Amino acid sequence: MVPVGYITLPNLPPISAMLSRQGVSTAPGISTFGGWPGLYAGTQAQKRKKRVASFVHVSVKGYFTIFLLGWIQMLKENVIFLKEAFLEFQSTGTIFPTSRWAAEALITPLISRKSRKPLRILELGPGTGSVTVPILESMQAGDELVVCEINHRFMSALKERLSENQHYLRIQDKVKFFCCPMQDLPEAGHFDVIVCAIPFSNLDLGTVQDIFTKLRRMSHEETVMTFYEYIALRSIGKVVSPPKNRERLKQIDSFFENIFSNHLTDRIRIYLNVLPIHVYTLRDLHELPVAA
Ligand SMILES: C[S@@+](CC[C@H](N)C(=O)[O-])C[C@H]1O[C@@H](n2cnc3c(N)ncnc32)[C@H](O)[C@@H]1O
Repeated sequence: MVPVGYITLPNLPPISAMLSRQGVSTAPGISTFGGWPGLYAGTQAQKRKKRVASFVHVSVKGYFTIFLLGWIQMLKENVIFLKEAFLEFQSTGTIFPTSRWAAEALITPLISRKSRKPLRILELGPGTGSVTVPILESMQAGDELVVCEINHRFMSALKERLSENQHYLRIQDKVKFFCCPMQDLPEAGHFDVIVCAIPFSNLDLGTVQDIFTKLRRMSHEETVMTFYEYIALRSIGKVVSPPKNRERLKQIDSFFENIFSNHLTDRIRIYLNVLPIHVYTLRDLHELPVAA
């Protein structure tokens, strides 16, 4: 494209050729001139205009390249999710990864931390990494991250994505990966922050209880946990699903009512997600009302 004054025209070879005949240098794709060819060529104003136009042009090109790469990454992630939702719907729980806004709400305990004390962070169910990447971006010196994913295909996709991530490469010795159900995670010390994406509404009560029992064992007095759920999905499920599923959802409902009564400290709505979600924050996990 050739910016001409305020108008941008396609950078057709004849235009470039005409410009170079007039003594105005042109670079492929960044050809600029500030008026009729030759009229102002070589003047200070002409040079300044050329610099500004080429800066604008390069910036616009850069912006579109980043935008395009973002879209390609998003499409790639969506394809992986769609496939896993088809193969493993119970554990995947969704057909789309969470949005940037949802991820930011989930990592609020990291973004809003007040002390510089290093944190031990646990991420459960990273999928393709839409929350892992913002976690890595907000990690500070000394922080450690343990990532646990049940699905080995998600784990491979995550590792591939992180292999090119500058934040990961900077602190990779502080990140550990476990490809197993979180119920089987080796228990070595407590975590300060737990970010969980496990789709509890898809699981039976026994599994949810096992997960929270494990969470209790991995927590201390200061541990903060965030997790999310699609708004109203459980309520809709209790009305429209078959009786057996309805009963299961009622049990999950009363399990969370019990947990929320003493441990829920925040609940925010995020509408900028494929389906709107609630992000919950729990505290005092070491005293959760589940078997110790
Ligand atoms: C709703 S997806 C969320 C993925 C990603 N964090 C996001 O926000 O886009 C749920 C993820 O939890 C994983 N998962 C489900 N049950 C799990 C378990 N018991 N232990 C570890 N990961 C689990 C699934 O494989 C999947 O990656």
